Amino acid sequence: MYSEKVVEYFMHPKNVGRLDPADGVGEVGNPRCGDVMKIYLRVQKDRIEDIRFETFGCAAAIATSSMITEMVKGKTLEEALAVSNKDVADALGGLPPEKIHCSLLAEEGIRAAIVDYRERARNA
Ligand code: FES
Repeated sequence: MYSEKVVEYFMHPKNVGRLDPADGVGEVGNPRCGDVMKIYLRVQKDRIEDIRFETFGCAAAIATSSMITEMVKGKTLEEALAVSNKDVADALGGLPPEKIHCSLLAEEGIRAAIVDYRERARNA
């Protein structure tokens, strides 16, 4: 059902945990299952310098959370916003169709964290 890469990222996820302090935090939930993801960003000169995540969800949600943190680390915020859940699923060798909705957590989590970062920067 899952690709080898999904299993690998689920068993050994990268960038798990939190950043304290963080420059931006995004928390999103999947209305279909109630799973939750939290993303922490550290931003330097508009670039994602460090990133961590906590995901309380299924194997696909954890694997996609982990993969997206690797994909956006070092990218500018605009480049990170361009990474879609499909890009993440492709990088994992694909997801079963009924699990595609799980990858939305990853995409939406990054977006929410960037929105939070920008709001904080505006109010600083
Ligand atoms: Fe909830 Fe996958 S079943 S995110």
